[in-house]
Amino acid sequence: MKVPIAQPVMTEKMIEAAANALRNERLTLGESVFKFEEAFARMCGTKHAIAVSSGTAALQLSLQAHGVKAGDRIVAPAMSFVATTNAFVPFGGVPGFAEVSEKDYTLDPAKLKAALDNKTKAVIPVHLYGHVAMMDEINDVARKNNLVVIEDACQAHGAVYKGKKAGNLGNAGCFSFYPTKNMHVGGDGGMITTNDDKVADACSRMRHCGRKKGSNYEHDIIGYTYRLNSANAAIGIEQLKMLPEWNDKRRAAARIYDEMLKGVGDLVLPPTPTSDVTPVYHLYTLRTKKRYELKAHLDSKGVGVGLNYEIPIHLQPVYKEMFGFKEGLLPVTEKCCREVIAIPMFADISSEQIKYVVDCVKEFYG
Ligand SMILES: Cc1ncc(COP(=O)(O)O)c(C=O)c1O
Repeated sequence: MKVPIAQPVMTEKMIEAAANALRNERLTLGESVFKFEEAFARMCGTKHAIAVSSGTAALQLSLQAHGVKAGDRIVAPAMSFVATTNAFVPFGGVPGFAEVSEKDYTLDPAKLKAALDNKTKAVIPVHLYGHVAMMDEINDVARKNNLVVIEDACQAHGAVYKGKKAGNLGNAGCFSFYPTKNMHVGGDGGMITTNDDKVADACSRMRHCGRKKGSNYEHDIIGYTYRLNSANAAIGIEQLKMLPEWNDKRRAAARIYDEMLKGVGDLVLPPTPTSDVTPVYHLYTLRTKKRYELKAHLDSKGVGVGLNYEIPIHLQPVYKEMFGFKEGLLPVTEKCCREVIAIPMFADISSEQIKYVVDCVKEFYG
């Protein structure tokens, strides 16, 4: 048996929706883009959603729309995909890193305060693997220190925190529709969610080359070509309809993994749902001191694995070179990144596939 790490869905209905958009709409910023935005904002419970070309673009524009600029410091966890901070380094934002909590791998609010300085303008909590960060505590630190809070919800479509959806818990939320995410758009894409009219307006103009509203060739802000294509948006509309069911299926698969992997070897299982957080298991991530050996075993058995994230952002070669970060800066992050290994997780994973993965893991531990 072969079990992939992820399995993006593309149905005939989605292909047909894309074909319709290609036949009948403007190819970028067509009707489907605006319908997708409306539906996504409704899902998150926010006033606005602005579709863009990627999750990285969403993070960049939402920071810039809040006035974050060159020389400003932005604090984020280093246990994340590199795009969390790649989003602002190119425009001169300076990364500062704060520790994550070992219990759920999200920003540790107790450590956040110490990571701030007088140049810090924003904080980016990452809802890693689909588990929402401790937003009340983070928002509290942010309020006291005048910081903008941009949620990196790129792995958390539909996740819930205290009754509210990810993307509606800070000043703006950022989503990625990269094909392996819980929902995608048949290629790259992203979304910004916000309740702030001015931020929404700035983001929608910046994605469209900084055009003045209602004008074609008059530009009053610096902008980018970060639009979403209409065919991708049409696929996104169909994917979004499936998201609640797909997230339920991911949670059900996670419950089976939790049950079957409890007490196996030295495995540390992922955080489970709490009274505050309903996660969406973008990834099902274990920790073990033997992750390279386990990976080699699972590779040999046809089981897909991911090392998300093998190298924390501050220790990525380019970040070490540009900013001089050194090992030892973030002991908890570094330890977790040395041990994490993701096993197959997708909505349609079958009980036979889950059993096979678990059997292979158990075989490894003898
Ligand atoms: C945590 C996180 N942040 C940011 C991104 C960037 O999204 P994209 O690849 O769409 O630019 C991703 C996804 O790849 C991600 O997982």
